[in-house]
Amino acid sequence: MVKEEPILFQKYPMLKNKVPWIPLLTNLPTPIERLTELEKGFELDGGEIYIKRDDKIHPIYGGNKFRKFEFIFGKVLKKKKRGVVTIGGIGTNHGLACAIACHELNPPLKCHLYLFHQPLTWHVQRLLLLFDYFGAKLHLGKGMIGTFIKFLFFKLIHPRYFLMFPGGSPLFGIGTSLGTVGFVNAAFELKNQINQNIFREPDAIFVAGGTVGTAAGLVAGCKLLNLKSKVHVVMVSSSLTSNPSAVKRNANKAIKYLRKIDKSIPNITVPKEVDL
Ligand SMILES: Cc1ncc(COP(=O)(O)O)c(C=O)c1O
Repeated sequence: MVKEEPILFQKYPMLKNKVPWIPLLTNLPTPIERLTELEKGFELDGGEIYIKRDDKIHPIYGGNKFRKFEFIFGKVLKKKKRGVVTIGGIGTNHGLACAIACHELNPPLKCHLYLFHQPLTWHVQRLLLLFDYFGAKLHLGKGMIGTFIKFLFFKLIHPRYFLMFPGGSPLFGIGTSLGTVGFVNAAFELKNQINQNIFREPDAIFVAGGTVGTAAGLVAGCKLLNLKSKVHVVMVSSSLTSNPSAVKRNANKAIKYLRKIDKSIPNITVPKEVDL
């Protein structure tokens, strides 16, 4: 299968070869489908609801993670890292996606997961089995802060590992914007689908917000493209990471990163305008 380079690189060719990227996604652009049954549950006054099927983005692991990983793992390979170390609860979906991405590469990379406690549901137990299946090495801590310190210490004594913050997003403004760039690119993909009349420019985009790299990328992308769509973020995590300031900070950091490479990218600043 031919894997196309990001639309962002087609629009801004100077980014190519400067912004790290590797192809991981297999079904782009992800299809957009109308949800007529869901529409019946709301008074939409003629409005329509669509879903962008990012669950179909990769044959093993759908969802938001692999859009970020195309750019983050681009950097991991560029820096010739031996593996990736990341952190989350014992049922971290981000950790599982990371284990799968490391396992899928040729040659595979090592994946170390630092895990802190969360309720042991059926889903969490299933993830624990999958971490093992995809060859991740697990480090079990108790509380979040203690586990986080051990995670940072691992990186200190293993410099050839890439340290990825939870969700692949910057944490309190620290860390790479490459995951966010994955969703700036997603906004450009959406705009192409609007241009192709697959659907109209949406009034509202709803997205889950954990570490808010996803939301920030969409906000930045919509602003760069001058889309009128308002991004509404549905919190799925603590307000420590999932808040309007974090969305704004991550969006502006991503734009600044891209503009450092290509000055023709609009010089805009995202205000604190998202709804949570
Ligand atoms: C499908 C999906 N979309 C979006 C998110 C939010 O991602 P982020 O950590 O970038 O806010 C998550 C996880 O929290 C997710 O699983």
